[in-house]
Amino acid sequence: MTEDQTDRGVVEPEALEDERNFDVALRPVDLNEYVGQKKHVDNLRVFIEAARRRGEALDHVLFCGPPGLGKTTLAHIIAREMGVTIHATSGPAIDHKGTLAALLSKLSPRDVLFIDEIHRLNPVVEENLYPAIEDFEIDIVAGDGPHASSYKLPLNPFTLVGATTRTGLLTSPLLSRFGVNIRLDYYPAEDLEKIVVRSAGLLDVPVDADSAIEIAGRARGTPRIANRLLRRLRDFAQVEGTGKIDLDCARHALERLEVDEAGFDEMDRKILLAIIEKFDGGPVGIETIAAAVSEPRDTIEDVYEPYLLQNGFLQRTPRGRVATRHAYAHMGIPFKDDPQGSLI
Ligand SMILES: Nc1ncnc2c1ncn2[C@@H]1O[C@H](COP(=O)(O)OP(=O)(O)OP(=O)(O)O)[C@@H](O)[C@H]1O
Ligand SMILES: [Mg+2]
Repeated sequence: MTEDQTDRGVVEPEALEDERNFDVALRPVDLNEYVGQKKHVDNLRVFIEAARRRGEALDHVLFCGPPGLGKTTLAHIIAREMGVTIHATSGPAIDHKGTLAALLSKLSPRDVLFIDEIHRLNPVVEENLYPAIEDFEIDIVAGDGPHASSYKLPLNPFTLVGATTRTGLLTSPLLSRFGVNIRLDYYPAEDLEKIVVRSAGLLDVPVDADSAIEIAGRARGTPRIANRLLRRLRDFAQVEGTGKIDLDCARHALERLEVDEAGFDEMDRKILLAIIEKFDGGPVGIETIAAAVSEPRDTIEDVYEPYLLQNGFLQRTPRGRVATRHAYAHMGIPFKDDPQGSLI
């Protein structure tokens, strides 16, 4: 989360301050409730069932992908399906190897240790984690100076579940220690539609099929955004409408919220506009784009760019990012051919 998130639009993919409770309330609790990502869900089901039958801990699992796609949700689901306790923490919270040792030593057999933002582990802590996840033991140093002695403390077998928006930042020794590595992708509109209908049921707000489709189409491929749009539309329906979300109400509210048909955030538009207007459509380096829109490079690469790339608004070339014809059309700017032929 960034400090200035209160200024962010309704389609900001990261969780907003007031949203944690809703995230939890709307979170699917088991694999049957989890919508979409079928290939990954089917695989997980097999791995979980196999581990259960053998009475073993599930292999370590890494989830990566942009914010709001269900990484934390799946970590909780794994623990539930395994019938064990989840101990949730995050990379930056484990500030010291003593903190790590304390966490690890309280794990019961087969428990899940969930480390969010695992790419932000400090290197010393990370190194101490290796023997824990490989051999289920940690090195403890007792005393200091010449009388220091080290011994190995055995741990209960456990499952490390890591989540990250940035696999690129994970060290290869850590990456290679995960038996299961799952990359979550943006959801197709049909899946988001199911999520909207499911959440509407939980929030007890009537929403008709057309409105569910409308919301799904503007949710930027992201369940968290679909849920957020639904909640905001519920507000409009209750205050200015009949209490039900129908297509009129949905369109009116989405217009008021300034969510466009592609579900673009203000930052998506800013990025495309910068490339088109300031850099003649590109190619332009990511650092230059970051400076032009005053947003950290990491955030652009992890949060905004994947969606723009996947939906053909942006292309990555060896010389930098290029705005596509599709991007020009969406921004209502006439497409001009690049004389150097660098536009593909
Ligand atoms: N497959 C799904 N089916 C139904 N709802 C989902 C699904 N995935 C996510 N959600 C909803 O979206 C919300 C956000 O998901 P979650 O917190 O798991 O995202 P995340 O990937 O951990 O995001 P971040 O990177 O910001 O931590 C969940 O609370 C849940 O309500
Ligand atoms: Mg999360």
